[in-house]
Amino acid sequence: MENAASQQKNNYDHPDAINRVRDIVFKTGCSKEDLIAVLKNVADCFGYISTNAIHEISRQTSISTSDIFSVATFYRMLPTTQYGRHVIEFCESLPCHVVGGRELFRALTEQLGIQPGETTLDGRFTLLTTSCLGVCEVGPVLSIDDNIHGNLTAENLPEVLAKYK
Ligand code: FES
Repeated sequence: MENAASQQKNNYDHPDAINRVRDIVFKTGCSKEDLIAVLKNVADCFGYISTNAIHEISRQTSISTSDIFSVATFYRMLPTTQYGRHVIEFCESLPCHVVGGRELFRALTEQLGIQPGETTLDGRFTLLTTSCLGVCEVGPVLSIDDNIHGNLTAENLPEVLAKYK
């Protein structure tokens, strides 16, 4: 587990942040083929890929910022905005949809007060949608930080959300 000092270091507000981005590019590679790995490593380090980080990657690799933005916004694993502490991925595929997914989705968005792609004001949850998570037999399903929760209803949803502070 990271201590407070290292967490602060992995923040774009830290004075060394751009140096860390530079270091990641240096260690990962400067070619177009390395770009996804560079972006992934920056996202892993800072939690997301900031606009300043994209400009720095562009300077170090000579890849245009628009090309970097295109790649970053294409992949969900490369967030360009800061996610909440917990990421909910709601299964919106048909098998879940027909066993209560629609009602669950309504309850979820009401309880969180956000729509897919948004983060709660307290920074606790980011809501994303996804296709089948491979556990249709316990639908409707969502995952939180990659933990699967199945057989969900509007009634038992608050109990599940409460586990994530
Ligand atoms: S359709 Fe939802 S887990 Fe398969």
